[in-house]
Amino acid sequence: MAVPQDILREISRLREQLDEHNYRYYTLDRPVISDQEYDRLFDRLSTLEQQYPEALTPDSPTQRVGAPPLAIFATVAHSQRMMSLSKTMTREELLEFEERLKRFINDESVRITYTAEPKFDGLAVELIYKDGVLIRGLTRGDGARGEDVTANLRTVRTIPLRLRGNDPPPVLEVRGEVLIGKRDFEALNRQRAQTGEELYANPRNTAAGAVRQLDSKITASRPLAFFAYGVGRYTKVELSGQKQTLEYLRGCGFRITPHLRVCKTLDDVFAFYDSLLAVRDMEDFEMDGIVVKVDDYALQRRLGEVSRSPRWAIAWKFPAVEATTIIEDIIPQVGRTGVITPVAVLKPVRVGGVEVSRASLHNEDEINNKDIRIGDAVVVRRAGDVIPEVVKPILERRTGQEKKYSFPQVCPVCGSHVERAPGEAHHRCTGLSCPAQLKERITHFAAKGRMDIDGLGAKYVEQLVDLGLVRDPADLYSLDTDKLMRLERMGPKLAENLLAAIDKSRRPELAKLLTALGIPGIGEHLAEVLAATFGSLDGIMAADLETLQNTPEIGPVGAANIIGFFAEANNRKVLEKLEKGGVEFPSMEAAASEGEWSGKTFVLTGGLTSMPRSEAKKLIAARGGRVSGSVSPKTDYVIAGIDPGAKFEKAQKLGITIWDEQEFLVRIGAHHD
Ligand code: IVH
Repeated sequence: MAVPQDILREISRLREQLDEHNYRYYTLDRPVISDQEYDRLFDRLSTLEQQYPEALTPDSPTQRVGAPPLAIFATVAHSQRMMSLSKTMTREELLEFEERLKRFINDESVRITYTAEPKFDGLAVELIYKDGVLIRGLTRGDGARGEDVTANLRTVRTIPLRLRGNDPPPVLEVRGEVLIGKRDFEALNRQRAQTGEELYANPRNTAAGAVRQLDSKITASRPLAFFAYGVGRYTKVELSGQKQTLEYLRGCGFRITPHLRVCKTLDDVFAFYDSLLAVRDMEDFEMDGIVVKVDDYALQRRLGEVSRSPRWAIAWKFPAVEATTIIEDIIPQVGRTGVITPVAVLKPVRVGGVEVSRASLHNEDEINNKDIRIGDAVVVRRAGDVIPEVVKPILERRTGQEKKYSFPQVCPVCGSHVERAPGEAHHRCTGLSCPAQLKERITHFAAKGRMDIDGLGAKYVEQLVDLGLVRDPADLYSLDTDKLMRLERMGPKLAENLLAAIDKSRRPELAKLLTALGIPGIGEHLAEVLAATFGSLDGIMAADLETLQNTPEIGPVGAANIIGFFAEANNRKVLEKLEKGGVEFPSMEAAASEGEWSGKTFVLTGGLTSMPRSEAKKLIAARGGRVSGSVSPKTDYVIAGIDPGAKFEKAQKLGITIWDEQEFLVRIGAHHD
């Protein structure tokens, strides 16, 4: 059956739209439609393709997932060998590199221009496009032949199935690196910890493993990204050098590094190396050095290669993020949620330019699976700002003197019984009033990047808890000079400073407040996501499970943690106490959902008879409105229930529109009974 013209047109329009949105979402990180709208377009295309299988093409956005598992990968020859890079660790070797180039070129009039870019730490692959359509993806393999991992690479969202632009070349081979971002990697491991699966050692191996999966559905479930850094064979395009090639590839829809520097001299290269090393930890993608290339392709061809490495390029490595050392002891550490983490005490060692003497061992299974023992020589790894980790023991160095670690039966701090719930990876202290938890929670709350209470370090927190002056974070806001003066090493001046710092923390940023609360799994980044999405604490508390789950990056586990945290009566009590203690719960311009009340701010005061307050907040949020905790000139409506308080009076003074409960019910268009 021939496919009707209008259907073909609709299919092609849908594909174009989906490609465009995919590109905006994954490659540019600037989506312009909601996930729901995307799903709607996707579902429509799937339906049409099922109805008219003749119209199906391999470059359709529906074809990223779904290839049947393979028994083995075919190997395919690269049309041009994928070379490796010669490496250096020092500036001197870079000077020698330049000397070699000059000697080889042997022409004073030639000015060498370099491009410098990050050396990505992932897996090299080649993507082959014929007439703009991705037809094959290969691993580097031995450089001459690679494995055909086409089905797997199709699942990577930043790999275009079809090149952007109207005039694709007949042949274009794109080379680059498949990676997993640090944030995605940590989320993946958090998820695996929760389901009791073995944790991945590092992003690189995880990315490489995912690309070499025989079942592409597994690959599809890994958060892989692709960065293009060069080309193999190409026809009917003019590419003159590295910089221009990367710009061309960007135009074709690829992600390229944001750190590309054109260098006229080696001094420029040195400066680039230093600047990249300085931001290395902050970057989401792991880099293990920089790659310096002669920019001009004509000059590259003249220089040629030696022993499978180009003469025109060199990799200058950063200090390694892995090192070997000895585990001197393993100690249990009680965290603020009662989770007991085994921590390795290491013989101090420098890793990635920082001295490391502790590393997390995560949990009992981790120790058993990796077979880590006290006295072992181990590989430790420090990546970015994450806590150093023990990757594996070096079994060849075992002497027989190493000791297996057994988990404590009682909490090392309060002596309560330690429990490991079925299906849980962690041991927990069951002591409700375990001071370790409390101290950790308070220290976490007050720390930099959270409530930022300057000067309130672990030493003072310890005493405040031991003296019974602080039983929850909110108690910090009822401290006074008398109470503080009971602490050791405290004087009137210090107390005054500390009280000033506490006072200053009464107006926190929303994301910092959220981080400070210590909702399980909600660190700095996700707190920022929540703050930007919901705009206020009330907004987050009013969100239901589904809304939270659909919030980018939050996911089902995070959503459940958030709901659970705010459902806990003790936590709500602490929040009320914080507010009473003068902490202002901030609200910011949220990316509120569209609705009749978009951009309007509501304040609730007094008791409602027809529904719980949380329900009212949800109803307001569902209409795009925002609920704030306090009345200000920016408030649009105050909803006053029974016995309204000071907020009511303030609203009257400010001349803000006040609705009673009846009016509110009429406005939401539904009589609740
Ligand atoms: S250029 C002959 N550029 O390094 C040129 N390679 O040892 C080689 N790599 O297998 C490729 N980042 O996996 C190039 N910006 C970059 C790179 C890069 C990482 C890897 C690539 C390659 C290995 C070469």
